[in-house]
Amino acid sequence: MDVWSSYKFKCGLEAANRFVIAPLTTNSSNDDGTATDAELEFVRRRSANGFGATISSAAYIAADGRSWQGIGAVDERHLPSLKRIAEAMRAAGGLAILQIYDGGRIAKPELIPDRRLRAPSAIASLRPGAQTPRAMTSDEVHGLVESFRNAALLAKTAGFDGVEVHGANHYTVHQFFSPRANARTDEWGSSFAKRMAFPLAVARAVREGLGPKLIAGFRVTPFESEPGGYTLDDAKLLCAELAQLDLDYISISLDDFRMSKPMRETRVYDKPIEGGYLPKESPVSEISRVVAGRTAVMASGGIWTCADAEGAMRLGADLVAVGRAIIVDPEWLSKVKAGREEAILAGLPKQQADIADPLSIPRPMVDYLLSRPGWLPRLAE
Ligand SMILES: Cc1cc2nc3c(=O)[nH]c(=O)nc-3n(C[C@H](O)[C@H](O)[C@H](O)COP(=O)(O)O)c2cc1C
Repeated sequence: MDVWSSYKFKCGLEAANRFVIAPLTTNSSNDDGTATDAELEFVRRRSANGFGATISSAAYIAADGRSWQGIGAVDERHLPSLKRIAEAMRAAGGLAILQIYDGGRIAKPELIPDRRLRAPSAIASLRPGAQTPRAMTSDEVHGLVESFRNAALLAKTAGFDGVEVHGANHYTVHQFFSPRANARTDEWGSSFAKRMAFPLAVARAVREGLGPKLIAGFRVTPFESEPGGYTLDDAKLLCAELAQLDLDYISISLDDFRMSKPMRETRVYDKPIEGGYLPKESPVSEISRVVAGRTAVMASGGIWTCADAEGAMRLGADLVAVGRAIIVDPEWLSKVKAGREEAILAGLPKQQADIADPLSIPRPMVDYLLSRPGWLPRLAE
């Protein structure tokens, strides 16, 4: 398993090695969804290490689907910002991929024009205090597919090498696939096949928007640990369908690729979920087996060393996405490559003042990271 070997995507573009910067929301964009200098620097410094590809923080595709203070890919007004993001991601010549999402029932009312959530069905998320959304009309659902297509077109115009659909972590694409969030009785729900319709329509629209020569990726949560959620077998069927489309990769979103821990809707991890589901098999190896080389598989979650990356590849992944390790140490990949893993910073400094500027982390992102104790390791001194 050579993590330093190049990887050629189906579309023809090539990553110089198997390491990818995972999509990382900085929660620090301008109100209008344009990137700030601080978040451009966050990306530029990390991409300069020579990753095969960098995936952007998730960009909202519709003004009423925004879940945090992040970047947007809604219309031409976002183009100059998108161009700057693509340039920063290419700091060392790696591929630049824009992740796009819609928040649906986990959008943030304060960031939305009329503060009213809309989602596949009028079912509130499990997050404490969540507003019950209104169910979207069928026309609105079609319109949302077009918003994904439009975002892919904007990404192409801005010079990105590809787009990743955020179909994971409980956002709208995931909600359409989930029996916990989708109780529709029209063409977008009511049976397993119809719950796949929206993710598949979005994947097709993005491929069409990009054309055949750019990377089209899709991120999935491989199962829901919440009771009544979809299982790994369900996700395998979705991935089998996605693999039939002209996709370049499927990315498997886990908090730890070894432990089968998906992101929970509540983001509360200190208590086990009562009646929760946990598959016995490894999602990475199971999905790799189903996909069977028709598209690449990207693993993520808990990759802190070169040996971790090799372990994920042994399970069947072609590419590995790295998140927290590169937040904590912006020069992580250079140290891994030089065989100097002992020099890697193992956690965020204890003193808050030593985090933002020395590590090029935007200040609102520092607050966001520290607001969830245990999310990122902290140094003792
Ligand atoms: C601060 C932060 C922001 C994140 N933002 C996104 C995002 O915008 N889109 C996404 O798909 N995942 C997002 N994630 C999840 C990561 O991409 C990754 O899957 C997760 O952190 C597990 O990998 P890791 O252990 O290498 O960090 C985020 C994670 C963190 C820590």
